[in-house]
Amino acid sequence: MKNLALKRIQDMKPYKPPINGRASYDGLLLDFNERTTGPADAVVFSLRQFGRDQKIQLYPEYFDLPDKIAAYAQVDSSQVMITNGTDQAIDVIFRTFSGEDDTIIIPVPTFSMYAQYAQINGNKILSPLYSAGDLDFPLKDVLDAINDSVKVIVVCNPNNPTGTLLPVAGIERIAKKAKDAIVYVDEAYYEFSGVSAVNLIGKYPNIIVSRTFSKAFGLAGLRIGYVVANNKYISEMLKVRGPYDVNQLACLAGTVALTNVQEVESYAVEVMKDAKPLLENFFLKNNIKFFHSAGNFILFKPDNAKLVADTLRRSGIAVRPQDKPNIKGTLRVTIGTRPQMQAFIGAYQNLMRTSYLQKYALVDRDGTLIYEPPDSRQVDSLKKLRILDGAVEGLKRLQDAGYQLVMVSNQDGLDTPLFPLSDFEPSQNAMLSAFAKAGVAFEQVFICPHKSQDKCACRKPKTGLVDDWLKTARLDTKQSFVCGDRASDKGLARNLGLPFVSMIKNGNFEDAIKERIAK
Ligand SMILES: Cc1ncc(COP(=O)(O)O)c(C=O)c1O
Repeated sequence: MKNLALKRIQDMKPYKPPINGRASYDGLLLDFNERTTGPADAVVFSLRQFGRDQKIQLYPEYFDLPDKIAAYAQVDSSQVMITNGTDQAIDVIFRTFSGEDDTIIIPVPTFSMYAQYAQINGNKILSPLYSAGDLDFPLKDVLDAINDSVKVIVVCNPNNPTGTLLPVAGIERIAKKAKDAIVYVDEAYYEFSGVSAVNLIGKYPNIIVSRTFSKAFGLAGLRIGYVVANNKYISEMLKVRGPYDVNQLACLAGTVALTNVQEVESYAVEVMKDAKPLLENFFLKNNIKFFHSAGNFILFKPDNAKLVADTLRRSGIAVRPQDKPNIKGTLRVTIGTRPQMQAFIGAYQNLMRTSYLQKYALVDRDGTLIYEPPDSRQVDSLKKLRILDGAVEGLKRLQDAGYQLVMVSNQDGLDTPLFPLSDFEPSQNAMLSAFAKAGVAFEQVFICPHKSQDKCACRKPKTGLVDDWLKTARLDTKQSFVCGDRASDKGLARNLGLPFVSMIKNGNFEDAIKERIAK
């Protein structure tokens, strides 16, 4: 069969969000940034009544919904157009203001539907990247990219999935420079961020804002949103939107929801002021990198995103893996109520205990953390103990970067008459307690007491000291490493299949591990 679809449609990939099976999933759905509880009771009640009282054989009428939205957004009704969700708003805006081969600027990573509609429309897409470190909006790149062929600039604010926000002053700068283009601001998460560009529309008629009932209002399944714009542009866009595109049930729910706005506000307060700090503290405490978000979701970067997502799902919590530019290996979690976040944290703690891969630093002792005397080569009295420069600082930095610390040391002839335990222990204990005072704790301390002629299985570079521990340690073999000053340490790393960080004898430990942490 000859494929009669437009070439540019044939060339597109379908946008298929992993939605199948969600409605019947009996766990906690934290993967699509929806409201995690149902809408206000009054909304549910009105929908139940609908079948009885309304005539669904008639085409929908929108009654005073645009007025109610206008009052909520504090604009005039002539500045409002209701849409079949934000998705339709995007489509209508792109089709009204740009044609084939016109350029649309869509900073990425972002919500997928912008690029989808732009491709359908035959637009050229320009995609500056949110900054690699903090995922900030690429304001300079966007400003630099503005030229006569640019017809629409998308500002997703706050941006999904990064959560980052462009301050309104930044939107104003774009609107000023791009006088002949539409600055389209998607405020799907407005109820959570509290930040809006709606006030700028009077001064800059090229700004168009969309919002939705899908998120804080809890009506994603009904598909309703709206656009706020200069009234002249609303009239143009109404020619593109169909007269019945928003169904009667959605309008009814939207109308009732707007008479219960305080219910939505209190949900947003619980999410942003209570549940979100709880989650952020959890990430902070566990050294899990996350990005500050102005929405009801947080993007975070565990060491092994796939393992975390799969394990959470098995324990009844769905999160959304991300693979877009600059955020590969991250997960996005929707923030819900406090009890729901407690459930998420509980499941996460469980997975860290049971299946999570852990970064370990296997660190030598003498010559690496404490001064190794050249004479006896043994610290066999408290007098000889000298913690090396950079040892405490380096260990702390490793801990801060999420490493667990393990000491692996050869102590030739320990517990023999020449090197009794009573000579070793005072300095060992003093060293460990000095570290503890600085907040440094070793999860394990392994010591081989043998001499080379003993032919034991545990003297470094042999692995016998750690073999049993490794059976349960869930070592992240990519990020863990061995650090020491001798060939035997290097050999241990080789025998364990781990990277080796070389240390100058009695040198500075912090300097030695710096580069490794930067990786
Ligand atoms: C930024 C953004 N805009 C729009 C939407 C979709 O909104 P709607 O359900 O109103 O089409 C989403 C949904 O995830 C979103 O994240």
